[in-house]
Amino acid sequence: MNETRRAVLDALADGPIAGPALADDLGISRTAVWKHVEALRDAGFEVESASEGYTLADVPEYGAEAVEFGLDAPLDVEYHDALPSTNDRARELAASGASDVVVLADRQTGGRGRRGRQWSSPSGGVWMSLVLRPDVPPARVPLVTLAAAVAVTDATREAGADAAIKWPNDCIVPREGAERGGDKLAGVLTEMEGEASRVSWVVVGVGVNVNVDPETLASDATSVRAEAGDVERRAFVQRVLERFHELRDDPDAVLDAWRDRAATLGQRVRVETVDGDVVGDAVDVTEHGALVVQTADGREVVHAGDCQHLRPADGG
Ligand code: BTN
Repeated sequence: MNETRRAVLDALADGPIAGPALADDLGISRTAVWKHVEALRDAGFEVESASEGYTLADVPEYGAEAVEFGLDAPLDVEYHDALPSTNDRARELAASGASDVVVLADRQTGGRGRRGRQWSSPSGGVWMSLVLRPDVPPARVPLVTLAAAVAVTDATREAGADAAIKWPNDCIVPREGAERGGDKLAGVLTEMEGEASRVSWVVVGVGVNVNVDPETLASDATSVRAEAGDVERRAFVQRVLERFHELRDDPDAVLDAWRDRAATLGQRVRVETVDGDVVGDAVDVTEHGALVVQTADGREVVHAGDCQHLRPADGG
């Protein structure tokens, strides 16, 4: 949304305000005010016009303008009813120089998960990708992913789900005795381009099963609907973005918050890596997003892999 339209919207929210007064305040013509009001109506905002002037009566349920309205983070939103993958669209935008843009879709037809897996993305979930250009070396990028996992976990907790983070960046609802530690609620897929010393762009893809029927999900997945009931997706997206924005430039806060919400730390784990399985007690996470595992042979720092939370009986 451009700055003037945002200013018109803010004025309507504080309304009633007469068209001529608004035109004067913003230094634009009355026709321009009228055009902005019509464009806002087209975007789904309910704008009442009475003798005292215009008033904002209702906000659209979802979409770019709906999310941008009242968003306390400097991000533009691009919305699509359907996309193959918001990460793919975000990569296109990143390659053309965009920054601080969120690509949001109601549904994805080719959602991608980590390790080349498919990611089911029906209407009702939150599927979005952030395009960022942090001025950091590639080694710092995992912190961005950790920040996204914290932001999603906080938003799902506030929605009433008993969520926690499973290494590396899954948001789960822990279940006693579950093979994978619990049922998956959300995931983060980060992609980047850059050189050894500096990142060119980072795309942080976030998928959350929000208002999704549990029957349509895999047996080891869950949704906010199943855990706590439906939430307003607009407010949910805003909460994730605002929390992420709070954390993104504060590495210490990210690590502390991640550790605080981690279901994996303190667990006996088996991590399947390309070099074989690592079994032991998960004791910490590093600033590079690696899991520190205390094995029978000493400490191992695991950078990537699939992590299983073992029941005590599984031993290892
Ligand atoms: C995982 O495997 O846990 C990561 C899943 C990430 C899914 C999200 S949904 C929005 C974005 N677009 C994609 O295609 N994937 C990510």
